Amino acid sequence: MPPKTPVSAEDFARIHRSAFVTSRPWSADEFQRLMEQPGVHMSAVPDCFALGRLVVDEVEILTVACAAGAQRQGLARRAMLALIKASADLGARSIFLEVAADNAPALGLYKSLDFEQVGQRAQYYQRRDGTKCDALIFRKLLS
Ligand SMILES: CC(C)(COP(=O)(O)OP(=O)(O)OC[C@H]1O[C@@H](n2cnc3c(N)ncnc32)[C@H](O)[C@@H]1OP(=O)(O)O)[C@@H](O)C(=O)NCCC(=O)NCCS
Repeated sequence: MPPKTPVSAEDFARIHRSAFVTSRPWSADEFQRLMEQPGVHMSAVPDCFALGRLVVDEVEILTVACAAGAQRQGLARRAMLALIKASADLGARSIFLEVAADNAPALGLYKSLDFEQVGQRAQYYQRRDGTKCDALIFRKLLS
């Protein structure tokens, strides 16, 4: 059976848990609460989604996840392109995100979509094993 496009908080939590192995997965309750917040919008394709929040004219990407068995097939690129278009349609002028400096797949994804690094927070992320890692801030102008 072909993979289903995620639609529910449970679907998003399942994909998030499968994708994020070094940081805490978000629960279905957390996704449900997030999705009820104003400005929060989701772009989903089978096995993958991107979640953004519009504040005034800027969208923050809250998370992007592709299920472990479905990675490197262009799904996150599709979800991100849909989120970028939805953000522009909502009136956003820019879109930004934070990413761990050692997250090569995510860095590759964002750079391939023409995001540019605009900041860095030293030792920002604390991993489950106690190690720390810098956060890099990336932004893409939409207009
Ligand atoms: C980051 C993530 C969402 C990418 O999902 P994906 O569906 O595998 O990505 P895509 O197949 O759409 O790849 C798009 C581009 O991203 C880059 N990329 C993706 N995986 C990569 C990898 N393992 N190594 C290097 N670059 C990678 C490449 O530039 C790729 O384009 P290409 O295949 O034409 O070379 C996925 O690896 C994931 O869920 N990781 C865990 C969660 C996470 O870290 N989320 C981001 C938090 S900020």
